[in-house]
Amino acid sequence: MISDNMLEELNKQVNEELYSAYLYQAMSAYANSKGYRGVAHWLDTQAQEEMIHARKFYDYILERGGRVRLLGIKEPPVDFGTLLDIFEAALAHEEHITGRINHLVNTAREERDHATDNFLQWFVAEQVEEESTATGIVDQLKLIGDNMGGIFQLDRELGTRPSPSTESE
Ligand SMILES: [Fe+2]
Ligand SMILES: [Fe+2]
Repeated sequence: MISDNMLEELNKQVNEELYSAYLYQAMSAYANSKGYRGVAHWLDTQAQEEMIHARKFYDYILERGGRVRLLGIKEPPVDFGTLLDIFEAALAHEEHITGRINHLVNTAREERDHATDNFLQWFVAEQVEEESTATGIVDQLKLIGDNMGGIFQLDRELGTRPSPSTESE
């Protein structure tokens, strides 16, 4: 049986993942308004992926016989500045989520909840990937600087990201 404390933490994480989706969707809308269609597509895909993460936590809570509680989702920002600002904000957010996942793992271990610990390991690996991807784009943007050709090319490249359903996990 899942503890009340673990259940509360998992419900909180459903909200964190939904907020992640909200944040990336807001970033996508912003990039779109600036004419960066490829970046907008990439961020839109990222938002869809975060919805899948939220669903994984949601399903897991139900599987363990827990009560799902959908908390209020905070409003994300509207303006995100430059492309570099967007991806630096994305990286900072992923680092925050990594901290949350680590906290969840610590809680599961304190409670000797091996099933939840095991469930969370997928997210431990996922966060390594999330941070690495965001760092990669930040690094590219720093190299490109204000070279319009470079920005154009990166925008095109990010526009080719496949949708989460066909993406191998
Ligand atoms: Fe996530
Ligand atoms: Fe993420």
